[in-house]
Amino acid sequence: MKLTVNNVNVQLYMEDCIAGMPARLEPGQVDVLVTSPPYNIGTTYNSYDDKISREDYLNWIGRWAQVCSDALSDSGSLFLNIGSKPSDPWVPFDVAKRLQRYFTLQNVFHWVKSIYIESDSYGQETAISVGHYKPINSKRFVNDTHEYIFHFSKDGNVELDRLAIGVPYKDKSNIERWAGAKQGLRCRGNTWYIPYRTIHSSQDQRPHPASFPPQLAEMCIRLHGMKKAGLVLDPFMGIGNTALACVQLGVNFAGFEIDREYYQEACRQLSGQATLFDGLVDWSQNGEDTSNNQ
Ligand SMILES: C[S@@+](CC[C@H](N)C(=O)[O-])C[C@H]1O[C@@H](n2cnc3c(N)ncnc32)[C@H](O)[C@@H]1O
Repeated sequence: MKLTVNNVNVQLYMEDCIAGMPARLEPGQVDVLVTSPPYNIGTTYNSYDDKISREDYLNWIGRWAQVCSDALSDSGSLFLNIGSKPSDPWVPFDVAKRLQRYFTLQNVFHWVKSIYIESDSYGQETAISVGHYKPINSKRFVNDTHEYIFHFSKDGNVELDRLAIGVPYKDKSNIERWAGAKQGLRCRGNTWYIPYRTIHSSQDQRPHPASFPPQLAEMCIRLHGMKKAGLVLDPFMGIGNTALACVQLGVNFAGFEIDREYYQEACRQLSGQATLFDGLVDWSQNGEDTSNNQ
């Protein structure tokens, strides 16, 4: 399906990304890749078997990584979201290592889904506990409240727009002291608290077993730099959350999904027939907006 939403070109393909990317995209055409492949941890997808041997899984990772490398421009960014299960914590690292054949690992982010912050002497008067996670009942493992976002580029030298997702200085005197602090913002760093927003679904159930919030894609795209984000690709688009972020940011999008139901849900979301998530982050509350299309 091809559609134009808010002047954004959206191309959604219901096909295998390994075959689809070379057929649909020019080499080097993609500026930002934001994606989350299956983690091979036994998640119940409609069409994909998420429990194959580690060797087969990593070989498959290598196949799509190579195709992604061909599609990505030399100055592009690949943001790869991946988690694990407590009994198999090596998955993200094995995957990252396989991608090393085609990319340079430029940054590592932690997507924090839930956090408890103690009250302390820095003005935080009461402790806070925020976000959602799936609790596990175990004597060996703790609850898993984070995932990784690996930022890969071709040569490790992609300049980022750090303040596009910057956070306000707590100590305002820094704004006077540091030349780079004029916007009143500092770099957010590599721990990103992004809670799952409420999902609105008519069946009162999740339409996809392993989706990420559109805000995650939004932050990756903004960090890469809105001015350099001509085309964003998600080869494992699920129900289209990267596409949703693109439409709201005003960036063209292409995505692939093998499952008909998830693909149709993506089409529904993009054509405005379903609203599963609350809106994107209101960055105007965070100081100057550095995007080029607001
Ligand atoms: C972790 S989910 C991605 C979810 C997505 N980020 C979202 O928020 O909805 C991985 C998706 O990849 C799809 N998939 C698996 N193999 C694929 C392939 N070869 N080509 C395209 N999609 C594939 C699965 O059906 C699944 O929906």
